[in-house]
Amino acid sequence: MKQDWYQSAVGYEIYPRSFCDSNGDGIGDIKGIISKLAYLKDLGIDFIWITPMYASPNVDNGYDISDYYAINPEYGTLEDVKDLIQQAHEMGIKVLFDLVVNHTSDQHPWFRDAKSSKTSPYRDFYHWKKGKDNRPPNDWIGFSGLSTWTYDALTDEYYFHLFDQKQPDLNWKNPKLRQAIYDMIRFWLELGIDGFRIDAISHIQKADWDVKLQDSKGDGAYQPFMNVSGIEAYLSDMKAIYEEYDALTVGEASGVSSQEAPKWTGRNGYMTMLFEWEHNYRFETGKGDVVKFIEILDRWQVDMQEQRWLGLYLENHDLPRIIDTFGDGSDSSAKAFAVAYFCLRGTPFIYQGQEIGMTNGDFKTLEEFNEPKMKRRYESYRQLLADKEAFERAKAWSKDNARTPMQWDASCYAGFSTVKPWLRVNSQYREKNIALAQKDEQSVFYLYKNLINLRHHSQAIAVGNYQRILVGHEAVFVYQRQSQTESCLILVNLTAEKVSISMPKVIRDKNWRLVLSSEKEGLKLKKSLSLPAYFYAVYQI
Ligand code: NOJ
Ligand code: CA
Repeated sequence: MKQDWYQSAVGYEIYPRSFCDSNGDGIGDIKGIISKLAYLKDLGIDFIWITPMYASPNVDNGYDISDYYAINPEYGTLEDVKDLIQQAHEMGIKVLFDLVVNHTSDQHPWFRDAKSSKTSPYRDFYHWKKGKDNRPPNDWIGFSGLSTWTYDALTDEYYFHLFDQKQPDLNWKNPKLRQAIYDMIRFWLELGIDGFRIDAISHIQKADWDVKLQDSKGDGAYQPFMNVSGIEAYLSDMKAIYEEYDALTVGEASGVSSQEAPKWTGRNGYMTMLFEWEHNYRFETGKGDVVKFIEILDRWQVDMQEQRWLGLYLENHDLPRIIDTFGDGSDSSAKAFAVAYFCLRGTPFIYQGQEIGMTNGDFKTLEEFNEPKMKRRYESYRQLLADKEAFERAKAWSKDNARTPMQWDASCYAGFSTVKPWLRVNSQYREKNIALAQKDEQSVFYLYKNLINLRHHSQAIAVGNYQRILVGHEAVFVYQRQSQTESCLILVNLTAEKVSISMPKVIRDKNWRLVLSSEKEGLKLKKSLSLPAYFYAVYQI
Protein backbone atom coordinates (compact mmCIF):
# COMPACT_ATOMS: atom_id res chain seq x y z
CA MET A 1 0.00 0.00 0.00
CA LYS A 2 1.47 3.35 -1.00
CA GLN A 3 1.84 5.56 2.04
CA ASP A 4 2.25 9.34 2.15
CA TRP A 5 4.65 10.66 4.80
CA TYR A 6 1.96 12.53 6.71
CA GLN A 7 -0.08 9.38 7.26
CA SER A 8 2.30 8.10 9.91
CA ALA A 9 3.20 11.59 11.12
CA VAL A 10 2.19 13.60 14.17
CA GLY A 11 1.71 17.38 14.26
CA TYR A 12 2.17 19.75 17.17
CA GLU A 13 0.39 23.09 17.46
CA ILE A 14 2.33 26.03 18.90
CA TYR A 15 0.58 29.15 20.15
CA PRO A 16 3.72 31.31 20.03
CA ARG A 17 2.58 33.92 22.53
CA SER A 18 2.42 31.25 25.23
CA PHE A 19 5.12 28.78 24.26
CA CYS A 20 8.49 30.13 25.37
CA ASP A 21 9.78 33.65 26.00
CA SER A 22 13.48 34.00 25.13
CA ASN A 23 14.05 37.70 25.92
CA GLY A 24 12.20 38.28 29.15
CA ASP A 25 9.33 40.49 27.99
CA GLY A 26 6.62 38.07 29.10
CA ILE A 27 5.64 37.15 25.51
CA GLY A 28 6.62 33.93 23.78
CA ASP A 29 8.74 34.38 20.63
CA ILE A 30 10.50 32.70 17.71
CA LYS A 31 13.83 32.28 19.48
CA GLY A 32 11.87 30.65 22.30
CA ILE A 33 10.43 28.14 19.82
CA ILE A 34 13.92 27.46 18.45
CA SER A 35 15.16 26.77 21.99
CA LYS A 36 12.51 24.06 22.36
CA LEU A 37 13.01 22.25 19.07
CA ALA A 38 15.16 19.63 20.81
CA TYR A 39 12.30 19.03 23.25
CA LEU A 40 9.87 18.56 20.35
CA LYS A 41 12.28 16.21 18.64
CA ASP A 42 12.50 14.14 21.80
CA LEU A 43 8.71 14.03 22.07
CA GLY A 44 8.80 12.59 18.58
CA ILE A 45 6.56 14.88 16.55
CA ASP A 46 7.13 15.33 12.81
CA PHE A 47 5.88 18.84 12.13
CA ILE A 48 4.79 21.97 13.92
CA TRP A 49 1.95 24.33 13.07
CA ILE A 50 2.56 27.80 14.48
CA THR A 51 -0.46 30.10 14.79
CA PRO A 52 -0.02 33.53 13.14
CA MET A 53 3.15 35.51 13.81
CA TYR A 54 2.57 38.17 11.13
CA ALA A 55 2.35 41.89 11.89
CA SER A 56 -0.88 42.45 13.77
CA PRO A 57 -2.58 44.84 16.20
CA ASN A 58 -3.52 41.67 18.15
CA VAL A 59 -7.24 42.26 18.39
CA ASP A 60 -7.45 38.52 17.77
CA ASN A 61 -3.85 37.64 18.73
CA GLY A 62 -2.47 37.51 15.21
CA TYR A 63 -5.59 36.41 13.34
CA ASP A 64 -5.98 40.08 12.40
CA ILE A 65 -3.07 40.63 10.02
CA SER A 66 -1.88 44.12 9.11
CA ASP A 67 1.03 43.01 6.91
CA TYR A 68 1.20 39.55 5.37
CA TYR A 69 4.90 39.91 4.65
CA ALA A 70 6.12 41.13 8.05
CA ILE A 71 6.72 39.35 11.33
CA ASN A 72 5.26 40.88 14.47
CA PRO A 73 8.31 42.36 16.27
CA GLU A 74 7.01 40.88 19.54
CA TYR A 75 7.89 37.50 18.07
CA GLY A 76 11.13 38.43 16.28
CA THR A 77 12.21 39.02 12.70
CA LEU A 78 12.13 37.38 9.31
CA GLU A 79 15.74 36.32 9.97
CA ASP A 80 14.52 34.48 13.08
CA VAL A 81 11.92 32.72 10.95
CA LYS A 82 14.62 31.62 8.49
CA ASP A 83 16.67 30.32 11.42
CA LEU A 84 13.70 28.48 12.80
CA ILE A 85 13.00 26.83 9.46
CA GLN A 86 16.62 25.85 9.01
CA GLN A 87 17.10 24.44 12.49
CA ALA A 88 13.78 22.60 12.45
CA HIS A 89 14.65 21.07 9.08
CA GLU A 90 18.05 19.97 10.35
CA MET A 91 16.20 18.02 13.04
CA GLY A 92 13.74 16.57 10.56
CA ILE A 93 10.83 18.70 11.77
CA LYS A 94 8.63 20.36 9.15
CA VAL A 95 7.14 23.81 9.71
CA LEU A 96 3.59 24.91 8.93
CA PHE A 97 2.42 28.51 9.21
CA ASP A 98 -1.13 29.78 9.54
CA LEU A 99 -2.72 31.13 6.38
CA VAL A 100 -5.42 33.69 7.22
CA VAL A 101 -7.15 34.79 4.04
CA ASN A 102 -10.80 35.18 4.94
CA HIS A 103 -10.07 38.57 6.48
CA THR A 104 -7.33 41.05 7.37
CA SER A 105 -6.95 43.54 10.17
CA ASP A 106 -8.74 46.87 9.72
CA GLN A 107 -5.20 48.29 10.02
CA HIS A 108 -4.00 46.51 6.88
CA PRO A 109 -3.01 49.18 4.28
CA TRP A 110 -5.55 47.65 1.86
CA PHE A 111 -8.39 48.30 4.26
CA ARG A 112 -7.15 51.71 5.34
CA ASP A 113 -7.03 52.75 1.71
CA ALA A 114 -10.35 51.06 0.91
CA LYS A 115 -11.99 52.93 3.74
CA SER A 116 -10.64 56.31 2.68
CA SER A 117 -12.82 56.67 -0.41
CA LYS A 118 -15.31 54.85 -2.62
CA THR A 119 -12.89 55.21 -5.50
CA SER A 120 -9.93 53.65 -3.73
CA PRO A 121 -8.25 50.96 -5.89
CA TYR A 122 -8.57 48.69 -2.83
CA ARG A 123 -12.25 49.40 -2.17
CA ASP A 124 -13.26 46.21 -3.91
CA PHE A 125 -10.77 44.10 -1.93
CA TYR A 126 -13.49 44.13 0.76
CA HIS A 127 -17.29 43.97 0.83
CA TRP A 128 -19.05 47.37 0.96
CA LYS A 129 -22.77 47.97 0.67
CA LYS A 130 -25.77 49.74 2.10
CA GLY A 131 -29.27 48.33 2.53
CA LYS A 132 -32.65 50.00 2.15
CA ASP A 133 -33.34 53.04 4.35
CA ASN A 134 -29.68 53.20 5.36
CA ARG A 135 -29.97 49.85 7.11
CA PRO A 136 -27.37 47.02 6.93
CA PRO A 137 -27.69 45.10 3.64
CA ASN A 138 -29.03 41.94 5.37
CA ASP A 139 -29.78 40.31 8.71
CA TRP A 140 -26.77 37.98 8.91
CA ILE A 141 -25.15 37.33 12.27
CA GLY A 142 -21.41 36.62 12.43
CA PHE A 143 -19.32 34.46 14.75
CA SER A 144 -19.12 37.33 17.22
CA GLY A 145 -22.88 36.98 17.75
CA LEU A 146 -23.45 40.44 16.26
CA SER A 147 -24.36 41.77 12.81
CA THR A 148 -21.83 41.01 10.06
CA TRP A 149 -22.05 44.66 8.95
CA THR A 150 -20.43 47.75 10.43
CA TYR A 151 -21.34 51.22 9.26
CA ASP A 152 -18.58 53.54 8.13
CA ALA A 153 -19.63 57.16 8.21
CA LEU A 154 -16.91 58.57 5.95
CA THR A 155 -18.14 56.80 2.83
CA ASP A 156 -21.66 56.13 4.10
CA GLU A 157 -21.61 52.37 3.54
CA TYR A 158 -21.36 49.22 5.62
CA TYR A 159 -18.46 46.75 5.42
CA PHE A 160 -18.73 43.03 6.04
CA HIS A 161 -17.00 40.99 8.75
CA LEU A 162 -17.67 37.47 10.00
CA PHE A 163 -15.48 37.90 13.06
CA ASP A 164 -14.66 41.12 14.94
CA GLN A 165 -15.43 44.45 13.28
CA LYS A 166 -11.67 45.02 13.25
CA GLN A 167 -11.34 41.95 10.96
CA PRO A 168 -13.00 42.95 7.66
CA ASP A 169 -13.62 40.09 5.22
CA LEU A 170 -11.77 40.00 1.92
CA ASN A 171 -13.72 39.95 -1.33
CA TRP A 172 -12.64 36.76 -3.08
CA LYS A 173 -14.73 37.60 -6.14
CA ASN A 174 -12.13 40.24 -7.01
CA PRO A 175 -9.37 38.71 -9.21
CA LYS A 176 -6.86 41.37 -8.09
CA LEU A 177 -7.36 40.40 -4.46
CA ARG A 178 -6.97 36.72 -5.34
CA GLN A 179 -3.74 37.42 -7.18
CA ALA A 180 -2.37 39.36 -4.20
CA ILE A 181 -3.19 36.44 -1.89
CA TYR A 182 -1.68 33.87 -4.26
CA ASP A 183 1.56 35.93 -4.46
CA MET A 184 1.72 35.99 -0.68
CA ILE A 185 1.22 32.20 -0.46
CA ARG A 186 4.15 31.74 -2.84
CA PHE A 187 6.34 34.11 -0.82
CA TRP A 188 6.12 31.95 2.31
CA LEU A 189 6.51 28.69 0.45
CA GLU A 190 9.55 30.12 -1.36
CA LEU A 191 10.99 31.04 2.02
CA GLY A 192 10.98 27.36 2.85
CA ILE A 193 7.98 26.60 5.04
CA ASP A 194 6.41 23.20 4.40
CA GLY A 195 2.77 24.16 4.30
CA PHE A 196 -0.14 25.84 6.02
CA ARG A 197 -2.96 25.41 8.43
CA ILE A 198 -5.61 27.36 6.57
CA ASP A 199 -7.81 29.53 8.73
CA ALA A 200 -11.58 29.85 8.29
CA ILE A 201 -11.25 28.66 4.71
CA SER A 202 -14.80 27.34 4.39
CA HIS A 203 -16.10 30.93 4.72
CA ILE A 204 -14.29 32.80 1.94
CA GLN A 205 -17.30 32.60 -0.38
CA LYS A 206 -20.54 34.27 0.71
CA ALA A 207 -24.11 33.67 -0.48
CA ASP A 208 -25.89 36.47 -2.37
CA TRP A 209 -26.51 39.35 -0.01
CA ASP A 210 -30.29 39.06 -0.43
CA VAL A 211 -30.36 35.58 1.15
CA LYS A 212 -32.25 35.92 4.40
CA LEU A 213 -31.39 34.07 7.58
CA GLN A 214 -34.88 32.61 7.80
CA ASP A 215 -34.31 30.97 4.38
CA SER A 216 -31.18 29.14 5.47
CA LYS A 217 -31.28 25.49 6.33
CA GLY A 218 -29.60 23.26 8.88
CA ASP A 219 -27.06 25.11 10.94
CA GLY A 220 -29.24 28.20 10.50
CA ALA A 221 -27.49 31.43 11.16
CA TYR A 222 -24.15 30.55 9.63
CA GLN A 223 -25.36 28.95 6.39
CA PRO A 224 -24.84 31.99 4.13
CA PHE A 225 -21.09 31.70 4.58
CA MET A 226 -20.44 28.00 5.15
CA ASN A 227 -18.99 26.15 2.16
CA VAL A 228 -21.05 28.23 -0.29
CA SER A 229 -21.05 27.15 -3.92
CA GLY A 230 -18.45 29.01 -5.99
CA ILE A 231 -15.75 28.39 -3.37
CA GLU A 232 -14.47 25.42 -5.41
CA ALA A 233 -12.69 27.61 -8.00
CA TYR A 234 -10.73 29.52 -5.35
CA LEU A 235 -9.77 26.34 -3.52
CA SER A 236 -8.58 24.79 -6.79
CA ASP A 237 -6.43 27.82 -7.61
CA MET A 238 -4.74 27.54 -4.22
CA LYS A 239 -4.31 23.81 -4.54
CA ALA A 240 -2.35 24.31 -7.76
CA ILE A 241 0.12 26.49 -5.83
CA TYR A 242 0.42 24.09 -2.89
CA GLU A 243 1.15 21.29 -5.33
CA GLU A 244 4.02 23.16 -6.97
CA TYR A 245 5.74 23.18 -3.58
CA ASP A 246 4.53 19.80 -2.38
CA ALA A 247 3.06 21.63 0.62
CA LEU A 248 1.13 20.03 3.43
CA THR A 249 -2.19 21.79 3.95
CA VAL A 250 -4.72 21.49 6.74
CA GLY A 251 -7.97 23.37 6.31
CA GLU A 252 -10.05 24.63 9.18
CA ALA A 253 -13.37 23.74 7.66
CA SER A 254 -16.25 24.43 9.99
CA GLY A 255 -19.60 24.01 8.29
CA VAL A 256 -18.26 21.42 5.83
CA SER A 257 -20.28 18.31 6.63
CA SER A 258 -18.86 14.80 6.82
CA GLN A 259 -20.72 14.07 3.57
CA GLU A 260 -19.23 17.07 1.77
CA ALA A 261 -15.73 16.76 3.25
CA PRO A 262 -14.51 13.82 1.17
CA LYS A 263 -14.40 16.19 -1.84
CA TRP A 264 -12.07 18.51 0.08
CA THR A 265 -9.18 16.20 0.91
CA GLY A 266 -7.03 13.37 -0.35
CA ARG A 267 -5.27 13.11 -3.69
CA ASN A 268 -8.06 14.77 -5.66
CA GLY A 269 -9.18 17.20 -2.98
CA TYR A 270 -8.36 20.85 -2.36
CA MET A 271 -6.01 20.23 0.55
CA THR A 272 -4.18 17.42 2.28
CA MET A 273 -6.53 17.18 5.23
CA LEU A 274 -9.08 19.12 7.18
CA PHE A 275 -10.11 19.77 10.76
CA GLU A 276 -13.79 19.06 11.32
CA TRP A 277 -15.52 21.18 13.93
CA GLU A 278 -18.50 19.09 14.95
CA HIS A 279 -16.95 17.12 17.78
CA ASN A 280 -16.20 20.33 19.64
CA TYR A 281 -19.73 20.09 20.87
CA ARG A 282 -19.86 21.24 24.51
CA PHE A 283 -22.72 21.69 26.91
CA GLU A 284 -23.31 25.28 27.88
CA THR A 285 -21.74 24.63 31.26
CA GLY A 286 -18.46 23.86 29.50
CA LYS A 287 -18.88 20.10 29.92
CA GLY A 288 -18.87 17.78 26.92
CA ASP A 289 -21.21 14.93 26.02
CA VAL A 290 -18.98 11.89 25.62
CA VAL A 291 -21.55 9.77 23.81
CA LYS A 292 -22.12 12.45 21.22
CA PHE A 293 -18.35 12.95 20.95
CA ILE A 294 -17.85 9.27 20.06
CA GLU A 295 -20.77 9.29 17.62
CA ILE A 296 -19.37 12.28 15.77
CA LEU A 297 -15.82 10.90 15.57
CA ASP A 298 -17.22 7.60 14.34
CA ARG A 299 -19.37 9.20 11.62
CA TRP A 300 -16.43 11.24 10.32
CA GLN A 301 -14.23 8.14 10.25
CA VAL A 302 -16.81 6.26 8.22
CA ASP A 303 -17.54 9.12 5.83
CA MET A 304 -13.83 9.81 5.27
CA GLN A 305 -12.67 6.27 4.42
CA GLU A 306 -10.48 5.51 1.40
CA GLN A 307 -8.36 8.35 0.01
CA ARG A 308 -9.77 11.04 2.33
CA TRP A 309 -7.80 12.40 5.23
CA LEU A 310 -8.53 14.15 8.53
CA GLY A 311 -6.48 16.20 10.95
CA LEU A 312 -7.29 14.63 14.33
CA TYR A 313 -7.34 16.80 17.44
CA LEU A 314 -8.72 17.12 20.93
CA GLU A 315 -7.47 20.59 21.76
CA ASN A 316 -6.40 23.82 20.14
CA HIS A 317 -5.96 27.47 21.04
CA ASP A 318 -9.70 28.15 20.70
CA LEU A 319 -11.03 25.45 23.01
CA PRO A 320 -11.01 24.80 26.74
CA ARG A 321 -8.78 21.89 27.77
CA ILE A 322 -10.15 18.38 27.13
CA ILE A 323 -9.29 17.18 30.63
CA ASP A 324 -11.84 19.64 32.05
CA THR A 325 -14.52 19.52 29.38
CA PHE A 326 -14.81 15.84 28.50
CA GLY A 327 -12.60 14.37 31.24
CA ASP A 328 -12.95 14.63 35.00
CA GLY A 329 -9.81 16.67 35.64
CA SER A 330 -7.66 13.59 36.24
CA ASP A 331 -4.61 12.50 34.30
CA SER A 332 -6.35 9.14 33.78
CA SER A 333 -9.04 10.92 31.79
CA ALA A 334 -6.39 12.83 29.78
CA LYS A 335 -4.81 9.50 28.86
CA ALA A 336 -8.05 7.75 27.90
CA PHE A 337 -9.01 10.58 25.54
CA ALA A 338 -5.48 10.62 24.13
CA VAL A 339 -5.68 6.95 23.13
CA ALA A 340 -9.24 7.33 21.82
CA TYR A 341 -8.39 9.93 19.17
CA PHE A 342 -4.73 9.20 18.47
CA CYS A 343 -5.28 5.82 16.83
CA LEU A 344 -8.06 6.95 14.49
CA ARG A 345 -7.53 7.28 10.75
CA GLY A 346 -5.96 10.69 10.08
CA THR A 347 -2.99 12.73 11.27
CA PRO A 348 -3.08 13.51 15.01
CA PHE A 349 -2.19 16.96 16.31
CA ILE A 350 -1.12 17.69 19.89
CA TYR A 351 -1.74 21.19 21.20
CA GLN A 352 1.02 22.55 23.44
CA GLY A 353 0.52 21.43 27.04
CA GLN A 354 -1.91 18.67 26.11
CA GLU A 355 1.03 16.26 26.36
CA ILE A 356 1.21 16.83 30.13
CA GLY A 357 -2.54 17.11 30.69
CA MET A 358 -2.65 20.85 31.30
CA THR A 359 -5.99 21.96 32.70
CA ASN A 360 -8.08 25.08 32.11
CA GLY A 361 -6.59 28.37 33.30
CA ASP A 362 -7.39 29.23 36.92
CA PHE A 363 -8.37 32.85 36.34
CA LYS A 364 -9.81 34.60 39.36
CA THR A 365 -11.12 37.89 37.97
CA LEU A 366 -12.49 39.24 34.70
CA GLU A 367 -9.47 41.52 34.39
CA GLU A 368 -7.15 38.52 34.13
CA PHE A 369 -8.68 37.46 30.82
CA ASN A 370 -7.36 38.56 27.44
CA GLU A 371 -10.15 37.25 25.19
CA PRO A 372 -12.26 40.25 24.14
CA LYS A 373 -15.52 38.28 24.15
CA MET A 374 -15.14 37.19 27.78
CA LYS A 375 -16.53 40.39 29.24
CA ARG A 376 -19.58 40.43 26.99
CA ARG A 377 -20.28 36.76 27.69
CA TYR A 378 -20.05 37.38 31.42
CA GLU A 379 -22.42 40.34 31.19
CA SER A 380 -25.01 38.35 29.31
CA TYR A 381 -24.89 35.49 31.87
CA ARG A 382 -25.05 38.08 34.64
CA GLN A 383 -28.54 39.08 33.54
CA LEU A 384 -29.80 35.65 34.60
CA LEU A 385 -27.32 34.32 37.13
CA ALA A 386 -25.60 35.32 40.34
CA ASP A 387 -22.18 36.84 40.00
CA LYS A 388 -20.08 33.76 40.78
CA GLU A 389 -22.10 31.44 38.56
CA ALA A 390 -22.08 33.93 35.68
CA PHE A 391 -18.30 34.16 35.98
CA GLU A 392 -17.87 30.37 36.01
CA ARG A 393 -20.17 29.93 33.00
CA ALA A 394 -18.38 32.60 30.97
CA LYS A 395 -14.99 31.23 32.01
CA ALA A 396 -15.84 27.64 31.08
CA TRP A 397 -16.02 28.71 27.44
CA SER A 398 -13.07 31.05 27.33
CA LYS A 399 -10.36 30.54 24.75
CA ASP A 400 -7.90 31.78 27.36
CA ASN A 401 -8.25 28.46 29.20
CA ALA A 402 -5.87 26.85 26.72
CA ARG A 403 -3.69 29.92 26.15
CA THR A 404 -2.02 30.07 29.57
CA PRO A 405 1.78 29.90 29.36
CA MET A 406 3.39 26.55 28.73
CA GLN A 407 4.52 24.85 31.93
CA TRP A 408 8.13 23.90 31.40
CA ASP A 409 9.31 23.47 34.98
CA ALA A 410 8.59 24.39 38.60
CA SER A 411 10.62 27.62 38.59
CA CYS A 412 8.99 31.03 38.75
CA TYR A 413 6.47 31.60 35.90
CA ALA A 414 6.75 27.90 35.04
CA GLY A 415 10.01 28.40 33.16
CA PHE A 416 8.05 30.16 30.41
CA SER A 417 9.52 33.59 31.15
CA THR A 418 11.61 35.42 33.71
CA VAL A 419 8.96 38.12 34.14
CA LYS A 420 5.21 38.17 34.67
CA PRO A 421 3.73 36.77 31.44
CA TRP A 422 1.06 38.39 29.27
CA LEU A 423 -1.48 35.87 30.61
CA ARG A 424 -1.68 34.36 34.09
CA VAL A 425 0.30 31.14 34.58
CA ASN A 426 -1.88 28.29 35.81
CA SER A 427 -0.93 27.75 39.45
CA GLN A 428 -0.90 23.98 38.99
CA TYR A 429 2.50 24.39 37.27
CA ARG A 430 4.50 23.28 40.30
CA GLU A 431 2.94 19.82 40.16
CA LYS A 432 2.37 19.67 36.43
CA ASN A 433 5.23 20.62 34.15
CA ILE A 434 7.38 19.14 31.40
CA ALA A 435 10.47 18.61 33.60
CA LEU A 436 8.50 16.58 36.16
CA ALA A 437 6.59 14.63 33.51
CA GLN A 438 9.85 13.62 31.85
CA LYS A 439 10.96 12.02 35.11
CA ASP A 440 7.79 9.97 35.57
CA GLU A 441 7.22 7.04 33.24
CA GLN A 442 3.54 6.92 34.24
CA SER A 443 2.94 10.50 33.10
CA VAL A 444 0.62 11.64 30.30
CA PHE A 445 3.80 12.74 28.53
CA TYR A 446 5.14 9.18 28.24
CA LEU A 447 1.82 7.91 26.99
CA TYR A 448 2.00 10.47 24.17
CA LYS A 449 5.56 9.40 23.42
CA ASN A 450 4.38 5.79 23.16
CA LEU A 451 1.43 6.74 20.99
CA ILE A 452 3.69 8.72 18.65
CA ASN A 453 6.01 5.78 18.41
CA LEU A 454 3.10 3.47 17.64
CA ARG A 455 1.85 5.80 14.92
CA HIS A 456 5.33 5.86 13.34
CA HIS A 457 5.67 2.11 13.29
CA SER A 458 2.24 0.58 12.89
CA GLN A 459 0.96 0.31 9.34
CA ALA A 460 -2.56 -0.43 10.60
CA ILE A 461 -2.65 2.80 12.64
CA ALA A 462 -1.14 4.83 9.81
CA VAL A 463 -3.19 3.68 6.86
CA GLY A 464 -5.49 0.88 7.95
CA ASN A 465 -9.23 1.09 7.52
CA TYR A 466 -11.50 1.87 10.46
CA GLN A 467 -14.33 -0.10 11.97
CA ARG A 468 -16.19 0.59 15.22
CA ILE A 469 -17.00 -2.43 17.40
CA LEU A 470 -20.20 -2.22 19.44
CA VAL A 471 -19.81 -3.54 22.96
CA GLY A 472 -23.10 -2.58 24.61
CA HIS A 473 -21.99 0.63 26.26
CA GLU A 474 -22.20 3.88 24.32
CA ALA A 475 -19.37 5.68 26.18
CA VAL A 476 -16.91 2.87 25.60
CA PHE A 477 -15.12 3.48 22.32
CA VAL A 478 -13.81 0.33 20.67
CA TYR A 479 -12.50 0.26 17.13
CA GLN A 480 -10.34 -1.77 14.87
CA ARG A 481 -7.76 -0.51 12.37
CA GLN A 482 -6.71 -2.97 9.70
CA SER A 483 -4.10 -2.81 6.98
CA GLN A 484 -3.09 -5.63 4.64
CA THR A 485 -0.51 -6.94 7.07
CA GLU A 486 -1.63 -5.85 10.50
CA SER A 487 -4.63 -5.21 12.79
CA CYS A 488 -4.97 -3.03 15.88
CA LEU A 489 -7.78 -3.03 18.40
CA ILE A 490 -8.34 0.11 20.46
CA LEU A 491 -10.48 -0.17 23.57
CA VAL A 492 -11.24 2.87 25.76
CA ASN A 493 -13.65 3.53 28.60
CA LEU A 494 -14.34 7.27 28.38
CA THR A 495 -16.20 7.44 31.68
CA ALA A 496 -15.12 7.93 35.29
CA GLU A 497 -17.01 4.75 36.22
CA LYS A 498 -16.39 1.06 36.05
CA VAL A 499 -18.49 -0.36 33.21
CA SER A 500 -19.41 -3.80 31.93
CA ILE A 501 -19.25 -4.62 28.26
CA SER A 502 -19.47 -7.73 26.14
CA MET A 503 -16.78 -8.39 23.56
CA PRO A 504 -18.03 -9.92 20.26
CA LYS A 505 -16.73 -13.39 19.43
CA VAL A 506 -15.03 -12.35 16.18
CA ILE A 507 -12.84 -10.00 18.15
CA ARG A 508 -12.09 -12.07 21.24
CA ASP A 509 -11.22 -15.15 19.15
CA LYS A 510 -8.19 -13.42 17.65
CA ASN A 511 -4.71 -13.82 19.02
CA TRP A 512 -4.15 -10.24 20.18
CA ARG A 513 -0.89 -9.01 21.67
CA LEU A 514 -1.11 -6.15 24.16
CA VAL A 515 0.78 -3.03 23.03
CA LEU A 516 -0.13 -0.53 25.73
CA SER A 517 -2.67 -0.24 28.51
CA SER A 518 -3.70 1.64 31.64
CA GLU A 519 -3.52 -1.73 33.48
CA LYS A 520 -0.15 -3.38 33.63
CA GLU A 521 -1.31 -6.67 32.18
CA GLY A 522 -4.12 -5.15 30.10
CA LEU A 523 -7.29 -7.25 30.16
CA LYS A 524 -7.87 -10.61 28.60
CA LEU A 525 -10.56 -10.17 25.97
CA LYS A 526 -13.31 -12.39 27.41
CA LYS A 527 -17.02 -12.30 26.55
CA SER A 528 -17.92 -10.24 29.62
CA LEU A 529 -15.50 -7.59 30.60
CA SER A 530 -15.50 -5.14 33.44
CA LEU A 531 -13.51 -2.04 32.55
CA PRO A 532 -12.07 0.22 35.24
CA ALA A 533 -12.75 3.97 34.94
CA TYR A 534 -10.83 5.47 32.01
CA PHE A 535 -9.39 2.10 31.08
CA TYR A 536 -7.51 1.99 27.78
CA ALA A 537 -5.70 -0.69 25.84
CA VAL A 538 -4.26 -1.11 22.36
CA TYR A 539 -3.82 -4.64 21.02
CA GLN A 540 -2.09 -5.71 17.83
CA ILE A 541 -1.81 -8.71 15.54
C1 NOJ B 1 -10.02 30.43 13.78
C2 NOJ B 1 -8.87 30.68 14.70
O1 NOJ B 1 -8.44 29.47 15.25
C3 NOJ B 1 -9.35 31.67 15.75
O2 NOJ B 1 -8.45 31.79 16.82
C4 NOJ B 1 -9.64 32.96 15.05
O3 NOJ B 1 -10.22 33.87 15.96
C5 NOJ B 1 -10.61 32.79 13.88
N1 NOJ B 1 -10.33 31.65 13.07
C6 NOJ B 1 -10.59 34.01 12.98
O4 NOJ B 1 -9.39 34.11 12.30
CA1 CA C 1 9.64 37.50 24.23
